[in-house]
Amino acid sequence: MISDAALRVTGGALESAPVAVDTQRVSVLARIGESFGLVRKALAALNARWHLRSATSLGQRVTLAGSPKVVNQGTMTFGERVRLDSTVAKLELVALPGGHLEIGNNVFINYGSSLVSSKHVKVGDDSLIGTHVMVMDCDFHRIEDKAWDTTGEEIVLEERVWLGNRSIVLKGVRIGHDSVVAAGSVVTKDVPPRCVVAGVPAKIVRTF
Ligand SMILES: CC(C)(COP(=O)(O)OP(=O)(O)OC[C@H]1O[C@@H](n2cnc3c(N)ncnc32)[C@H](O)[C@@H]1OP(=O)(O)O)[C@@H](O)C(=O)NCCC(=O)NCCS
Repeated sequence: MISDAALRVTGGALESAPVAVDTQRVSVLARIGESFGLVRKALAALNARWHLRSATSLGQRVTLAGSPKVVNQGTMTFGERVRLDSTVAKLELVALPGGHLEIGNNVFINYGSSLVSSKHVKVGDDSLIGTHVMVMDCDFHRIEDKAWDTTGEEIVLEERVWLGNRSIVLKGVRIGHDSVVAAGSVVTKDVPPRCVVAGVPAKIVRTF
């Protein structure tokens, strides 16, 4: 029997009554909760297998919520335990002809983000990419005549990089391990390891 926790006021003092916990019932509920969690993860893993079926390689335990836009005309590789969210807004993952979109292990990419590679975009292990982030290694058009031009310059995010919401990383940039790009920043130049960059164009505001 479960009895609710009760507090009785006796002679102006608070006295707590003993609480009997039905441990059998609690463990059954915990097991049901666990099973739901496992089912949800299994569905997210199946969802990833389906939507990322054009990927060149897909590691173990990749999960996906929602339905992304995936175009692989080059090479697209995912490490293990990658988590993708394409719920509130569509996630876009593109490898153009000759491009390699390389996502490392244990990377999280949030909704509305767009990662496009015409040469090589590498997202290092344990990195976090916020919502509505853009990472593109080419400009798509030439400045002078606006002609279509997907000549790319490699982008590398080293390990444990965090890109804040609505940040943009432009072609040719390397972001050092553990560094953080503040929300809304535009990164136009290399970022050393272990620093926070912010603003347009992004500048170092802190090191750690
Ligand atoms: C990166 C971040 C966490 C750093 O926050 P913080 O520790 O409070 O920042 P700091 O106090 O060290 O800021 C240092 C300087 O940078 C400036 N700065 C911080 N964030 C900025 C931004 N997004 N754009 C422009 N400047 C910014 C601050 O005004 C401060 O300038 P000052 O020294 O002239 O006063 C924060 O800027 C940020 O981007 N938060 C949102 C993260 C996000 O997108 N999360 C959800 C997705 S995962």
